[in-house]
Amino acid sequence: MTDKVNYRRLGDIAVIRIANPPVNALGQAVRAGLQDCMDRAEADDGVRAVLLVGDGRTFIAGADIREFGKPPAEPHLPDLCNRIEASPLLVVASMHGVSLGGGLEVALSAHYRVAQPSARVGLPEVHLGLIPGAGGTQRLPRVVGSGAAVDMITSGRHVGAAEALALGVVDEIREGDPEEEGLVATRALLDKGMERRPVSGLPSPAPLDWDAVYAATLKKGRGQISPAAAVRAIQASTELPFAEGLAEERRIFRELMETDQRQGMIHSFFSERAVSNLPDLRGVEPRAVGHVGVVGGGTMGAGIATAVLLAGLNVVLLEMTPEAADKARNRIAGNLAGALRRGKISQDRYDTLLSDALQTTTEYADLSQADLVIEAVFEDMAVKRDVFSELDRICRPGAVLATNTSYLDINEIAAATSRPADVIGLHFFSPAHIMKLLEVVVAEHTAPDVTATGFALGKALGKISVRAGVCDGFIGNRLLNACRTAADHMVLDGASPWAIDKALTEFGFAMGPFAVSDLAGLDIAWATRKRLAPHRDPRERVGRYPDRLCEAGHFGQKTGRGFYLYEDGMRAGTPNSDVTGFIEAERAELGIVPRDFSPDQIVARYLLAMVNEGAKLLEEGIARRPLDVDVVLVAGYGFPRYRGGPMKWADMTGLSDVLSDIRKLAEGDAWFWKPAPLLEDLVREGRSFEALNG
Ligand code: CAA
Repeated sequence: MTDKVNYRRLGDIAVIRIANPPVNALGQAVRAGLQDCMDRAEADDGVRAVLLVGDGRTFIAGADIREFGKPPAEPHLPDLCNRIEASPLLVVASMHGVSLGGGLEVALSAHYRVAQPSARVGLPEVHLGLIPGAGGTQRLPRVVGSGAAVDMITSGRHVGAAEALALGVVDEIREGDPEEEGLVATRALLDKGMERRPVSGLPSPAPLDWDAVYAATLKKGRGQISPAAAVRAIQASTELPFAEGLAEERRIFRELMETDQRQGMIHSFFSERAVSNLPDLRGVEPRAVGHVGVVGGGTMGAGIATAVLLAGLNVVLLEMTPEAADKARNRIAGNLAGALRRGKISQDRYDTLLSDALQTTTEYADLSQADLVIEAVFEDMAVKRDVFSELDRICRPGAVLATNTSYLDINEIAAATSRPADVIGLHFFSPAHIMKLLEVVVAEHTAPDVTATGFALGKALGKISVRAGVCDGFIGNRLLNACRTAADHMVLDGASPWAIDKALTEFGFAMGPFAVSDLAGLDIAWATRKRLAPHRDPRERVGRYPDRLCEAGHFGQKTGRGFYLYEDGMRAGTPNSDVTGFIEAERAELGIVPRDFSPDQIVARYLLAMVNEGAKLLEEGIARRPLDVDVVLVAGYGFPRYRGGPMKWADMTGLSDVLSDIRKLAEGDAWFWKPAPLLEDLVREGRSFEALNG
């Protein structure tokens, strides 16, 4: 027994309580404690049943992820599960909070499962690049059938208690204290003489068309292998005796444990939690926010207002004219209708959000009581400064004044007010009520409690918030510009935009950069290019072919024509051959003889540009840690989560290889490919980006 697992005897029932805060992860000490307590119960005269229960907020959240990648220590979880199931005593699990991964596997090794109505269960290992490794792929199908097991295990989704009861994952739902309710259920089972019921003894589940299920899962994973690997393990449960199925599961689990995808996903898991854990904000109280003002009701402003409403806060949205205010209200109503359709809100809530929680106005004075105002107007410095000087005039002292600019200098915006300490950037991503990322951009004079308020708002909105400093594009757009430039150079040198998009989606990106440009609107990047043109160094290589498209009035999806052609209402396009003409003309003008690029070369150049720029951001302090860069790219830019982000990719590739590839590219374009000094330092010192994550 250890202090992480307690043993208590109540008559003929032994209560084994797991107490390993915060989430009762099954680290070595917990496994050893559970084993000792099971031994003790079996040796304890007169004990007839064991009740497993979790202390604190949850039953068991799974294996201790921090132990992955280290040498496994005994007792191993699969053996422990078998040992619990094989006990001659009746074993009951009383589940509250979450029972995930190894937590559900322990529960499935018990002979009976009771759950609180609010409990959730699941086998989310695929999101860590793994499959369940302690019998989950063998026991769950025996309980719920092959089809439901494939759904639960390949999606990794959390299943609520009611559904878990309907599927048979839990036997009974009881509301109250988990231990007391577990004891009542165990008592009743003993009284009616309930026999032990080991899941491994249940008949094998019916087979499916496994090759078809495997192929469909592989396709859906967009390059992620663990869900498809899980299908093969579930298949084993239908074809092999239990013990052999377990061995097959173990084999696949071990294989996945050695992959870069497992490393990438676990890096993402911890990084997503680490981004909002900033040492300089410890002990800093955020300002209270109940009323939020939004200035501008276009796609972005309406999306932000929707996100804020869905978080339960009141919104006053300011527009220039009553017509524009009506349009903004309609956009918000449309967004909320989507949430209603997806079952995120009820009809009642939809009605109250629109009638009570949202106010639209054309008067700045209506923002006077807002605790925080988010400006989302046109990307133009003069317009933004006007808005902020009005806000400065009208807002109450202590109100946080935030801009949603994606590129502009927030210090300059803040200087339009008499209170720069209250000014911050809150950079949302479109559609703002759906995209997970929020860049919290801290300007020169931003007060710490204003930064803390930005993070607190992000949390209330269910976002992943990342701290960034002020520069052109902050973290995400600056990296995007760098790799977009690398892509443009490849186009000038011989690759087609469509080949580049294809190589990058095959790498796992949600979309390629040219399809993204079409979605965002080509006019936006055009305006940026024009804005930056006067400041460009003559050595900078800038493709002109996208300007030709814009000059012809083709702005991507919104005009039906960009790098792709979009049929009426279609989101996916077919290559626009006009673009080839523009590219070929430019190559001829520049005397470039086009060369071939393999998909690997395309991906490598794109990522090398990202990594080099990421290292520069770190040097400049725009991003504090490599993991911040990784999370921005994964949560906001479609970088495949299973690869962990660009800086993790660089670490896994090896920084000295990354640097030597960048140096080779610099032989052709010394301006663009100048290696980041930080990268050179790390290679010289034999260190990795991980070493900077703290
Ligand atoms: N191992 C180690 N630490 C864990 C953990 C785990 N399984 N689950 C959560 N934690 C840690 C988090 O890192 C976080 O730590 P910090 O406070 O230091 O940042 C802390 O517990 C609280 O977690 P959250 O901030 O995420 O809290 P939450 O309330 O929002 O969510 C949760 C709780 C739903 C359990 C969520 O943390 C979660 O989904 N955890 C992962 C669950 C999981 O994937 N389990 C399967 C593990 S793999 C497995 O079990 C393999 C096997 O078959 C052998």
